[in-house]
Amino acid sequence: MKIIMLGAPGAGKGTQAISIAEKYGIPHVSTGDLFRSNISNKTELGMEAKSYMDAGKLVPDALTVRMLLDRVSKEDCKNGYVLDGFPRTIAQAEVLEAEVKKLGEQIDFAIDVEVPDENIVKRMSGRRACLKCGATYHIVHVPPKQEGICDQCGEALVLRDDDAPETVLKRLNVYHEQTQPLIDFYKARNILHEVDGTKDRESVFKEIVEILGE
Ligand code: AP5
Ligand code: MG
Repeated sequence: MKIIMLGAPGAGKGTQAISIAEKYGIPHVSTGDLFRSNISNKTELGMEAKSYMDAGKLVPDALTVRMLLDRVSKEDCKNGYVLDGFPRTIAQAEVLEAEVKKLGEQIDFAIDVEVPDENIVKRMSGRRACLKCGATYHIVHVPPKQEGICDQCGEALVLRDDDAPETVLKRLNVYHEQTQPLIDFYKARNILHEVDGTKDRESVFKEIVEILGE
């Protein structure tokens, strides 16, 4: 099963993708997480991506596509994956579609997690992220069991550099300009499903499971 998560920054793509990955036994592939792990490891790719990310801009397609295709060619992705944060431009979607077609396969579901802009900025200031395993929490809505510590891997949680309110607003603009057109792209392929991301985490997941099947 190949799934794409769409939605604005902070809509809950990562939160839901982790639950999907666990339930359906497929890897969670987040381009944001891949970039952040490259930044932590101070790789050349990470250093190049960081300046774009901190400015709330998209990392150039060529760099992003290469990194993503390398990741999904790994053995653990052969039965599918849930993509979180990719594609983010029509050009990325076209490359992915062509690559998947080459294997005689297809993307099965594109799930758009809908949250209005006004809810997003509030959510982001309360977000805490684990840069080691990619899990995210919210100090009020999705708190970790122990304050400041990741439930999954025990790492200390941080506020992401790009979650400052002014950067979040820039990311939202970029989303509307460059990523939102993907909704029509996948609608035209009859695989788009919308879920109401303003509900609580469990209710959103329930809607997603109804789409994907038990
Ligand atoms: P990325 O890491 O993908 O960030 P993003 O898309 O901006 O999305 P976020 O991770 O901020 O939000 P999310 O939807 O995953 O929400 P979350 O589950 O954490 O990308 C970062 C940067 O990398 C980009 O800006 C770009 O520079 C670069 N990049 C990445 N991919 C790229 C690509 N393909 N091309 C080019 N550049 C790329 O939830 C948010 C908060 O809400 C959390 O606190 C969470 O606990 C809380 N929450 C979740 N669900 C609920 C709920 N139902 N109710 C209440 N709170 C909730
Ligand atoms: Mg995320």
